Amino acid sequence: MLIAHITDSHIEIPEIDNAGRLADFDRVIAHIKQLKTVPDLVIHTGDISHCDRAEEYQFAKTAMERIGLPYEVIPGNKDSREGMAAVFDTPEQFVQKCVETDHWKILLLDTLSATSNMGDYCEARLAWLEGELKSTAKPVAIFMHHPSFVMSNNPYPFQFVEQKTADQFNNLVSGFECVKRVFSGHAHRNTTGCVGNIPATTLTAMSLDRRKGEYGDAFEGKPIYQLIELDDDGGFQTTLQACG
Ligand SMILES: [Fe+2]
Repeated sequence: MLIAHITDSHIEIPEIDNAGRLADFDRVIAHIKQLKTVPDLVIHTGDISHCDRAEEYQFAKTAMERIGLPYEVIPGNKDSREGMAAVFDTPEQFVQKCVETDHWKILLLDTLSATSNMGDYCEARLAWLEGELKSTAKPVAIFMHHPSFVMSNNPYPFQFVEQKTADQFNNLVSGFECVKRVFSGHAHRNTTGCVGNIPATTLTAMSLDRRKGEYGDAFEGKPIYQLIELDDDGGFQTTLQACG
């Protein structure tokens, strides 16, 4: 199974001067469209919009639908559940979903806080997640906007509202051997870490003006997304893509 993982597009309409975020999104879409191996799924891990405007979500939706592939969206702190629901028809309470394939369970989580730009995860969402993890023998890949691990290469290393909440989440997830990797956005830079003993990563923002970190000459001036190949036996590979 091949997943195109995109994140942090921060679409702003009307666009701020010289931001180029709409063009960056279009470049990513064009790159995914020309791949020789067609992805099975596109996942946007949030901060779809920058100002929670309907036209911003609509731009992203129209662009993703141009690929002609199934896609999923989860909210980032710049998005709202209400705003997303109006355009994507996602749930208004928690935007959580399980996508199950023959060999994998893919869990899309909602880490929005009611009061903060930081991540949060309440008892109701934990209960849903626990139910999903208990009910499968398949390998699991988790996608969520906010990383729940400490990012050692980030000037803002901890991005959950409370350590206690992050600990609850990490303790639950790391108690299940079936979870193979946790994928996030939010940090605007590539980071690796662990949720318990499970590898966890953040993917940099696709919008060039929001991108942090160094990626080498091949990525200079080119929006980034990643391809995630999930093997039938529970293994996986990820590769960064530079969109020319
Ligand atoms: Fe962001």
